[in-house]
Amino acid sequence: MAIMNIDENLEAILEKIDTNETVPESEPERQYYYIKLLRKLISDRSTALGRPLTACVQTFGCQMNAKDSEKLLGILTAAGFEETESEAADFVLYNTCTVRDNANQRVYGRLGYLNALKKENRNMIIAICGCMTQEPSVVEKLKKSYRFIDIIFGTHNIFQLAELLYERMTADEMVVNVWDGTDKIVEELPAVRKYPFKSGVNIMYGCNNFCTYCIVPYVRGRERSRRPEEIINEIKRLVGEGVKEVMLLGQNVNSYGKTLDEPVSFAQLLKMVEQIEGLERIRFMTSHPKDLSDELIEVMKNSKKICRHLHLPLQSGSSRILKAMNRRYDKEKYLALARKIKSEIPDISLTTDIIVGFPGETEEDFLETMDVVEKVRYDSAFTFIYSKRTGTPAAAMEQVPEEDVKDRFNRLLDRVQKISAEVCTKDTGKVMSALVEGVDSHDSSMVTGRLSNNIMVHFKGDASLIGEIVDVRLDEAKGFYYIGSRV
Ligand code: SAH
Ligand code: SF4
Ligand code: F3S
Repeated sequence: MAIMNIDENLEAILEKIDTNETVPESEPERQYYYIKLLRKLISDRSTALGRPLTACVQTFGCQMNAKDSEKLLGILTAAGFEETESEAADFVLYNTCTVRDNANQRVYGRLGYLNALKKENRNMIIAICGCMTQEPSVVEKLKKSYRFIDIIFGTHNIFQLAELLYERMTADEMVVNVWDGTDKIVEELPAVRKYPFKSGVNIMYGCNNFCTYCIVPYVRGRERSRRPEEIINEIKRLVGEGVKEVMLLGQNVNSYGKTLDEPVSFAQLLKMVEQIEGLERIRFMTSHPKDLSDELIEVMKNSKKICRHLHLPLQSGSSRILKAMNRRYDKEKYLALARKIKSEIPDISLTTDIIVGFPGETEEDFLETMDVVEKVRYDSAFTFIYSKRTGTPAAAMEQVPEEDVKDRFNRLLDRVQKISAEVCTKDTGKVMSALVEGVDSHDSSMVTGRLSNNIMVHFKGDASLIGEIVDVRLDEAKGFYYIGSRV
């Protein structure tokens, strides 16, 4: 079950709020005021129904989206909802993704199912937020054809959930509130955590890179870094609550801190995080190759805590396509960087993202991508078929015929899978430390642990090991995971 972050604080904060006074203008006080009002509303409804009210938050996107969901669920539980995994709940919130069209289609399909559930429970409240709702065309469609939705909000104002929900519960109409952008970062609201032993930590929001295929900068806004003190304090608090591993989150962590009043590099931030006593592992996501510094390689190399894993999105191996994508590195620069990282940190695991079928991609361009795959030999690679996103520059470029894209995609997938199965045998027989994440879903006499290099290992053990870091011998490679035994 989820863990509440600032539980004791919450009661103390709410205690001081007088809901007979006017609504505070400043944040986060304003949201606490609404949380207190909601508590009364929800407790009255729950008394009338003779049961608790339930809330379900579904995440459709990336780690940053998942982190937002933890914040959203924190607000809901603070307001008096009981968390449930089931969508047959009193409040259902879809936190959406729009990076590729299939993410959107999944949401539309599932909304139809929610509508059916709402017919069974007249009081059900349905809300949708996240990257999809930052697109005006999506909001128009939802308002027109999905009238059963109660609340629509965006990525910039997730902290306002209590206020928007209160508005919906006290007036009988759809609440739509999406901001175009923001320079405000509202933190210090209640949050829950999915795992007691590991947590994502936002170090920055938004993206300034405008890769020509990508919609993220449009729906997440401009790059904003959090101040190092705030990040360090949050991690210290998490460690105090039992967290052993943090994942520092940002669309491009390598450009962290450039816009702060007192600029700090990502490598410097990592050094500060390393000092935190009790913290055992540090991960981060995502590194843009164009900004990956020698300083970062050096810090990783000398670190005892930074995990031996680097996700280094390639996108394409063709310098011509990389230029059209506005990635600001070419094939040679990428290969040189991968080589340097591997020679400095030989036990590192490299993973990547690759897009097939970007507009104008020819067979030759595709073979350049295959060539990089052969040369780098990734531990694993996420492969995507290019998806046209409205409003991005690439949407207006000449698209590649579908059959060609499918054929290339299958060839690429086949190759990356074979290579990754070969690469993932290299540590067989070695003893490595694993953070136990849970009981194996297929065999309850086994547990599943994550190695520093992000590969999973299954070995005999029970639930008492969850959250522990233990030494495991990797007995047998199974393609993309190991079977091991505790030593
Ligand atoms: N900020 C991260 C990526 C976030 S999106 C980075 O720059 O690495 C995650 C991945 O989705 C991207 O790396 C890219 O491979 C893929 N992606 C983004 N837009 C896409 C599109 N329009 N079609 C297909 N894949 C896309
Ligand atoms: Fe998208 Fe590029 Fe920003 Fe990553 S760096 S989020 S791919 S625009
Ligand atoms: Fe998707 Fe938004 Fe993340 S578009 S990938 S949820 S930033």
